[in-house]
Parts: sequence; structure tokens; C-alpha cells
Amino acid sequence: MKIKKCLFPAAGYGTRFLPATKATPKEMLPILTKPLIQHGVEEAVEAGITTMAIVTGRGKRAIEDHFDISYELENQIKGGSKESLLTEIRSLISKCTFSYTRQIEMKGLGHAILTGETLIGNEPFAVVLADDLCNNGEEDGVLKQMIEIFNRYQCSVVAIEEVPKEETHKYGIIDGDLVYGRDDVYRVHNMIEKPDSKDAPTNMAIIGRYILTPDIFDILKNTKEGKGGEIQITDALMEQAKHDRVVAFKFKGKRFDCGSIDGFVEATNYFYNLKNSNE
Ligand code: UTP
Repeated sequence: MKIKKCLFPAAGYGTRFLPATKATPKEMLPILTKPLIQHGVEEAVEAGITTMAIVTGRGKRAIEDHFDISYELENQIKGGSKESLLTEIRSLISKCTFSYTRQIEMKGLGHAILTGETLIGNEPFAVVLADDLCNNGEEDGVLKQMIEIFNRYQCSVVAIEEVPKEETHKYGIIDGDLVYGRDDVYRVHNMIEKPDSKDAPTNMAIIGRYILTPDIFDILKNTKEGKGGEIQITDALMEQAKHDRVVAFKFKGKRFDCGSIDGFVEATNYFYNLKNSNE
């Protein structure tokens, strides 16, 4: 089955970026001139997806406005030197459809994904957490690589990265066995949400890219609140993993945790240097 839709859970409060995120969605913070969520949508388009499903919440209206025409502004700059600055976003808007639903209570990533069921329906889909910004230069983007893995294994796929042992408490951590003939795909048999380093089975951390099969929705409906009183996608994925229905994929490329100040600054410097070296 082809992956046609990409879900963007974007309802979180972004408390690590207060006060910037008091009235501005975290997903609208820019890396250079492009908001994080636009980088995510571009990655999805590169992977062949044009249907974007966005889970928003209170105070997130700017996301909807961003993926819409701004007549006044566009008329104002028409024919001038600045018009080209809107070329990329205009092209995205013309290629894609965007639909939105609201998460009423912020009960975690698993709950946000379940809220998106109404936009996704009964088909496998991609998930992008826009605050994890991925880049693979001129080569295939992370989502595109993951779709190839999904096409091969036909089960849920999580993107993983090795992290320092002392940082396992920030991530979902997987354990698994390498799939025969590959050095980058693991059949997952255990997953733990944000374990202390002493309890972490490995240092392989799930980052903000997933391909999920639609049975995840029924599993999420029966998933109890886990770590932090939130409904955790890791707990729901563990149910699929019990039936060998999850693979973890060590993607090629760089990932920046733009939900943290260090990651955000690192991404800004990286893209700034990239831009200068291309000019
Ligand atoms: P984070 O764990 O980064 O949480 O969520 P957050 O609330 O956005 O940020 P901090 O930790 O308070 O600074 C990971 C992703 O899941 C979404 C967020 O928008 C982000 O893309 N999310 C999280 C939801 O959509 N709903 C939730 O209830 C929680």
C-alpha cells in the first residue's frame, strides 16, 4: 500500500521555548527564513506525499495561515524583488492539500496521533514531528528512505539514531535484532519510553519520524496513560512489536532536535553555513 498522507502532531505547548512559544506555535519558529513545519512538509513532498494532516491546538492558527494565500501581502510585493521569497511556499501550497483537526487536551504524542485518525482513515501513514529537523543534503530525505523500508517490510517503521547513554531519558529507546542481510534495520522486540541510562537496553533512540500501520489507532484507544501521565506512542508500538510488526531503521542524514535550544542553534548554524557554501 502506498503512503499518501503525512500526519504532523503540532499541538504541544513547546514549554522549553517559552516565552517565544507563548503566542507563537513552536512549529512556526524559523530555521533561517523557513518555519520548522515547512521544512517537515518539504521532506514529505520529497517522499512523494501531498496530503498533509495537521493536529493543532489552541493558539496554533498561524500554522493554517502559513499554508494559505496572504492576498494583501502578495499583492503588495507583486512584481518586486521580494516576490521570489514566496516562490517555495506558493509551490508547496499548490501541490499539497492541508487539513486540520484540534487536540482538545494535550495528553501526549500517542493521544495527538489518535486525534489524527479522522484525517488519516484506514491506511498506513507517515508521521513527522516538525521539531526534529532532518537533512540529508542532496541525497534521499529521511522520510523517503523510510518509505522504502516500509515497502520492503510492510509494518510500522521507526527512525532511530544512536545517542549518548546519559541522554536515553529524553527518548523512546528500542531493543531488537538486525534483520538478515542488513546493517541498518532492526526487528524491534522491546521499547521503553524515556528510560534512565541504567535501565536502557540500548542507546538506540526513536526520533520524530514514523511510518505507522492503521491498526495503531485501535491500539491507542486501549493504551493507558504511561510515563508522565501521557498516552505514549511507544507503548502502542510495543503492542505491535510483540507481534513482530515494528522495524527500526538507522537512517542516513543529520537530525537536529529543534525543540531544545542547543539543537535549534546547531540547526541554524548548519543551514546558514550550507546556504553560504551554496552561494
Ligand atoms: P514534545 O515532547 O516536544 O512536547 O512533543 P512539546 O509540548 O511540544 O514541547 P516541550 O517539551 O513542552 O518544550 C513532541 C511532538 O508531539 C507533539 C508536539 O507538538 C511535538 O511535535 N505533541 C505533544 C502533541 O501534538 N500533543 C501533545 O499532547 C504532546
